[in-house]
Amino acid sequence: MKPIYFDHSATTPLDKSVLKDMEPFFCDKFGNASSLHSFGQEAKAALEGARMQVANILNCQEKEVVFTSGGTESNNLALRGVVFGLLKKGHKKPMHIITTKIEHHAVLHTTEQLEEIFGFQVTYLDVDQNGLVDSKKLKDAIKENTALISVMYANNEVGTVEPLSEIAEVIKKTRDERKEKGVKLPIYFHTDAVQAASYLDLDVKKLGVDIMSLSGHKFYGPKGTGVLYVRKGTIIEATQTGGGHEENIRSGTENVPGIMGLAAALQLAEDEKKENASKVASLRDYLIRELPKKVSDVRLTGHPVRRLPNIASFLIDGIEGESMLINLDLKGIAISTGSACSSGSLEPSHVLKSLHFPLEKIHGSLRISLGKENTKEEIDYFLEVFPPIVEKLRNITGGIL
Ligand SMILES: Cc1ncc(COP(=O)(O)O)c(C=O)c1O
Repeated sequence: MKPIYFDHSATTPLDKSVLKDMEPFFCDKFGNASSLHSFGQEAKAALEGARMQVANILNCQEKEVVFTSGGTESNNLALRGVVFGLLKKGHKKPMHIITTKIEHHAVLHTTEQLEEIFGFQVTYLDVDQNGLVDSKKLKDAIKENTALISVMYANNEVGTVEPLSEIAEVIKKTRDERKEKGVKLPIYFHTDAVQAASYLDLDVKKLGVDIMSLSGHKFYGPKGTGVLYVRKGTIIEATQTGGGHEENIRSGTENVPGIMGLAAALQLAEDEKKENASKVASLRDYLIRELPKKVSDVRLTGHPVRRLPNIASFLIDGIEGESMLINLDLKGIAISTGSACSSGSLEPSHVLKSLHFPLEKIHGSLRISLGKENTKEEIDYFLEVFPPIVEKLRNITGGIL
């Protein structure tokens, strides 16, 4: 059997049709989109075509689409850019940011820096054991100086889908109240939609967000490409300065082949969304149903219903995640334990810790993130080879960690 890839939340392969769309822009149509000559204009036209395609999918204006180098940069730009922009406009410190304990490190390490070096106040909201943010608790956390709220669309480790529309409603009410009171400080809503893009609705108007991050390599596009949607009128300052590209929000010569690939991949994901979501959800549900029949002491993590169609995440008692990963890899199956983005670190996952699981349980975390090319046969193969691995590992640890 050819190797089985169950780690699509870490990255996806580039779709071959996307590669075709990118190819002309490496060697033939290689112009710099800022150049005035015909080489540049050819690249510029392609770039603006890609921007239009992305804007149509997000249901926004073209000028609201900023191309970046990926999810990490988009999150950094969103958070730092907004609060720096507000400072530049004369809003006074200390301003307050609300986020959650289960965000990706691209958000959490940025807010930590804003707190430690720049003196911003940050509230890290707790989530419940299913990973869900409570919009009432979020409402209670809003203070007079709250300027930015950042809540992810869907979690990358357990797949829980957060109640963005409810949160948008809370923010809208706060805005109305501030208007009545004559408070000048804006309050912005950012979401990290990196894991949601392949399967969930990306209409920014329906979601009610002001700023949204996407990453190309999570939806069969190229690595090193991303988008930051910035609603018109949002105060945001460039964090990468230079020649004033991307409406002065993100300087640097645009990665035209990458952007062409990102737009083509996003279009493909949009066109195939319904079909792919229902296909991976039925594989996910099959796995969630069957695994506890084959292995004892298994617990599903994340929300039972409000979850991404492609993520099945578990805690397996009495074994260690890394050993599980290596043993499955030897059988040709790629999975992840905790977040692949933090692999290499022996620190237990901050997401699972925030879901209030004891450390010894977190050590046995397993994430299977499916993609459109996975099949039922592959899940069956996993269900066949995994139980003996669990048995072997439990015998080694004596079931105690
Ligand atoms: C939720 C989330 N946000 C941000 C990122 C970072 O994206 P990128 O790899 O494009 O920098 C990831 C990557 O796994 C992610 O899962």
